[in-house]
Amino acid sequence: MKLFADTAIISEIEEVSEWGIISGVTTNPSLIAKSGITLLKAIEKIVNLIDGPISAEVAEGKSEDMIKEAKVYAKMHKNIVVKIPMTLEGVKAVKALSSLGIKTNVTLVFSTSQAMMAATAGATYVSPFMGRVDDFTNTTDSGFKLVKDIKDIFKTYGFKTEIIAASIRHIDHVDQAMKAGADIATIPYKVLKIMEKHPLTDKGLSIFREASKN
Ligand code: E4P
Repeated sequence: MKLFADTAIISEIEEVSEWGIISGVTTNPSLIAKSGITLLKAIEKIVNLIDGPISAEVAEGKSEDMIKEAKVYAKMHKNIVVKIPMTLEGVKAVKALSSLGIKTNVTLVFSTSQAMMAATAGATYVSPFMGRVDDFTNTTDSGFKLVKDIKDIFKTYGFKTEIIAASIRHIDHVDQAMKAGADIATIPYKVLKIMEKHPLTDKGLSIFREASKN
């Protein structure tokens, strides 16, 4: 499973890019608002930090408007993936963009039928939202089941669309995304930062440090 950073904050992307294991970035209007810069400025900076798919989200609306906006982002850099909301207008836009060779990431996916429609339209990626599904159903495994069901269905029907497990809230979601077979997990900075931690690693290190003093 590939690891993407789910942030538009440039200092965070700079830091995680140095690890050498982050292969893409996803943004959305809320993350852009938090970053304090415009989407266009963010794209310009992010493409120089991470050499992989960078998702830039269009505003929801008519397919013609989404296509126009998508073409602007796609022209900015070869790694841009246009994020399109899961609506019928969005599906129409994805169909048109895929025939133009523009990569798309269909976002706000909460069901297998939505994922299947996006994949049929030629989406490069679909983003099921694990955290928001769990919040909505008040469970801890609905996000896992959603990603796993989409994975099974894509396999059964031979869809090449990749699954980005999104809306990740904690390490258990990363674990569930791997077990469900997500191709990618897009992970917020605060979760990326704690993924390397385990109390037994710290304990082991301190035992080894003591031993090496003798
Ligand atoms: C990423 O593509 C999504 O927009 C993001 O993961 C949504 O996360 P949230 O549910 O925490 O807003």
